[in-house]
Amino acid sequence: MKIIKSIGILSLVIALAILGMKFVPSKMLSKIYSWSRGINPVSLNLPPSAKTEAENRILNCIEEIKKGPDTGEASIVLGRLLRILVEAVNAKHVVEIGTSQGYSGLWICLGLLTTNGKLTTFEISPQKIVLAKATFQRAGVENIVTVVEGDAHETINKLNEPIDIFFIDAEKSGYADYLKKLLPLIRPGGLILADNVNKPENFPEFIQAISTNPDLETVGLDMFTTGISISIKKR
Ligand SMILES: C[S@@+](CC[C@H](N)C(=O)[O-])C[C@H]1O[C@@H](n2cnc3c(N)ncnc32)[C@H](O)[C@@H]1O
Repeated sequence: MKIIKSIGILSLVIALAILGMKFVPSKMLSKIYSWSRGINPVSLNLPPSAKTEAENRILNCIEEIKKGPDTGEASIVLGRLLRILVEAVNAKHVVEIGTSQGYSGLWICLGLLTTNGKLTTFEISPQKIVLAKATFQRAGVENIVTVVEGDAHETINKLNEPIDIFFIDAEKSGYADYLKKLLPLIRPGGLILADNVNKPENFPEFIQAISTNPDLETVGLDMFTTGISISIKKR
């Protein structure tokens, strides 16, 4: 009798945990997870400090955009990660699909300032292109950024220079096609980052491609919130 009761209670706890995973907002789950492991998320989220006047100008624009309405721009964590990776791999050429108003592009530019590199970013919306160009001008990085207008599925076909970092942040149904078209241009040791991969069922072909291709090694980060995949093209 006692065993049956224990099994009953255990099943109830498991069922509640599964329901919790499904219905508790992922941001809340992430917080609970961090706190339960004794990690204070606030301590790693202090605002960045500018080292130079050029950095300061970009960081001011970053802050300004974050204060405005949510336009689906990258998280601060992803922004910082992009900047760190650009510097770490000494990226000379970064390609981004999905410029929006230039938020993630600004983080990439923070890294490119020190690597003397450039960003080629693709955007389909004419209104966002106007906003992005204004952002890059305000931040003083317009000379290292090229905004390519139109449907990236077509416009990326014109790229022919090697890519050090490829960042995909546009419509989910397009991820697999973008990867297929640009993988040959990514240099050995280059990186592919994709945002919003927390629901792999939304783009099974892309997830399959980054997880099973022997040329790539992939890790998923921040999967309780938006989800970021990072893959290296093996040397
Ligand atoms: C999530 S937003 C990008 C956010 C941006 N990377 C940031 O973090 O600041 C996605 C962008 O992809 C653009 N987009 C969607 N489909 C596209 C396509 N086929 N070609 C180019 N851009 C596209 C949208 O117009 C939108 O601005």
